[in-house]
Amino acid sequence: AKAHPTIFFIFGGTGDLTSRKLIPALFNLFLDGWMPEHMAIVAMGRTNFTDEKFREELLKDINQFSRRGKADQAQWDKFSKHVYFQVSDINQSSTYVEQAERIQKFTAEAGTAPNVIYYLAVAPRFFGAITENLAKHKLAIDAERTRIVIEKPFGHDLQSAKELNKQLCSIFSERQIYRIDHYLGKETVQNILAFRFANSIFEPVWNRNNIEHIQISVTEQLGMGNRGGYYDEAGAMRDMIQNHILQLLCLIAMEPPVSFKADEVRNRKVDVLNSIRKFTPEDIKKNTVRGQYSKGWIEGKEVPGYREENGVNPESNTETFAAIKFFVDNWRWHGVPFYLRTGKRMHQSSSVITIQFKDVPHLIFPSEAVESWQQNRLIISIQPEMSVRLQVQAKRPGLEMTLNPVDMLFDYNGTYTGDTPEAYETLLLDTMIGDQTLFMRGDQVEAAWELLMPILNTWAGKKSLSFPNYSADSWGPETAEALIAQDGFHWFTLP
Ligand code: BG6
Repeated sequence: AKAHPTIFFIFGGTGDLTSRKLIPALFNLFLDGWMPEHMAIVAMGRTNFTDEKFREELLKDINQFSRRGKADQAQWDKFSKHVYFQVSDINQSSTYVEQAERIQKFTAEAGTAPNVIYYLAVAPRFFGAITENLAKHKLAIDAERTRIVIEKPFGHDLQSAKELNKQLCSIFSERQIYRIDHYLGKETVQNILAFRFANSIFEPVWNRNNIEHIQISVTEQLGMGNRGGYYDEAGAMRDMIQNHILQLLCLIAMEPPVSFKADEVRNRKVDVLNSIRKFTPEDIKKNTVRGQYSKGWIEGKEVPGYREENGVNPESNTETFAAIKFFVDNWRWHGVPFYLRTGKRMHQSSSVITIQFKDVPHLIFPSEAVESWQQNRLIISIQPEMSVRLQVQAKRPGLEMTLNPVDMLFDYNGTYTGDTPEAYETLLLDTMIGDQTLFMRGDQVEAAWELLMPILNTWAGKKSLSFPNYSADSWGPETAEALIAQDGFHWFTLP
C-alpha cells in the first residue's frame, strides 16, 4: 500500500549517503508507485543551494549510483519537484522554526496530519543538538506520526550507546525510533526469515543434533576510500560485527517468533544476543583474531597498506579484520560453534553464511566409492551472488558407485526476473508505513555492545605489535585460519 502523506527531513542533506543512497532509494520508490501523492523531501545543510541547484546536483548522483542507471528526465522532473533544500544550521533556532512552517504548510496542502520523518544522516556528535532542538520547538510531540531515523554507528561503546538511547528516549518513544542497520533491508537477508519459517523441512534439523558448526563471513575488497578518519576510530568490530554480522547471527540462531510482528521478531533476536557466551580473558586469547592489512596488489593495481591510507594514523593499531568464535548457550545451540569473520582489502567481496551439518553416522560405501566427500552444507550467499545452495553427496553417472558432492541451487538470477530493490528502498518505505521489524531496538543495540566490550577493552589495552599482519588481496591473517582449523574446519568460500 502507498504510504500516508509524508514529509521527510534529511539532516546531512549534502552528504554522500543522501545523494548516493537515500535520494536514489526514494526516487526508485516513486518510480515503483510506492510514494504518497503528497510528499516532500527536505534536505538540510549549510551549503547555499537553491532548490533548483540542489536538484541538479542530485541528478548527477542518481545517474551514477541508482540501480536503474540514468534517470528518465520526465519522471525525474515529476519526482524532483517534491525535493527541497533548506539552508540551515542545526544549532540555530530559526532552522526549526522554518521546519515548523514547512510542516504547517504541507499539512494544509495534504489536508491531514502527515508523517514527519527526521532522518539523521549526520555524525553522531550532532544527534544531541538536533533532537533537543526538535523537542524544544515541539516538533516531536505527535507519537503516532513523528519518527526519527538514526544511522550507525549507534554509540562507540556500551556506555555511549546507553547515553544515546537515554537521550533519544527522553524525547521520542521507542516506537518512533528507527535505528538503521542496512543489512536487514537486503533481500537475501530478509529471505533468511522466509527460508527458516515458511518451510517445514529446515526447522527439525536446525539445531545442535544435526548442525556441526556455522560460519558467517563478510569480506570486502574495498579499502578505506575517503573514510579513513571515521574508520580509524572504529575498526572492524565496531564497523561490521557490532551491527551487521551480529544481526545475521541473530536471524540464523533465533527461535521461531509467534508472528511476523516487529516486537515478536525483535524479542527472539535479542534472546540470541543474551544467550551468547560472555568472553573471559582466556576466551579472548583463544577465540578472537584481529588483523590489519599491508599494501598489496588488487587486480593489477598496487594499493596502499592501511597505515598509509588517508586519515589513518601511521602507527594505527585499528583492526581492519576480525574473526571470532562464539557459542550460543541455549538448548538449540549448545556446543555448536559460530565462526564470524570480516575484513577489508580481502581477496574477494563476498558475504556468505555456511551451515555445516554433521557427517553421516555410518558409511555403507566402500572407501573406493568416495571420489570426494563433503558433509551436507546449506550455503546462503547474501552478495554479490544471491543464492541458496544445499550441498549433498550424489552418485556420479557411470557403471560404478562413485560419490561426489553436488549443489541443489536456488539462484535469484535464474528464478526471478527484474531488479531487486536496494536495502534502503525497503527500509525507507518501512519508516513511512511505520514498520519497525527490520530496525534495531534499543535493547538489541545495547546487548550487542555489552557482548563485545570485553574484547574491545582487551584489544585497546594490548596493542598488537605484529600489525600489519595480512597483505591486501589475501584471506586475512594466518591466525584466522588457525582459529577454525584447530577445530578441524576451514573457512568456506564460493568458487
Ligand atoms: C557499512 C560499513 O555499514 O557497511 C562499511 O560502515 C562497509 O565499512 C559497508 O563497507 C558494507 O555494506 P555493503 O552493503 O556494501 O555490504
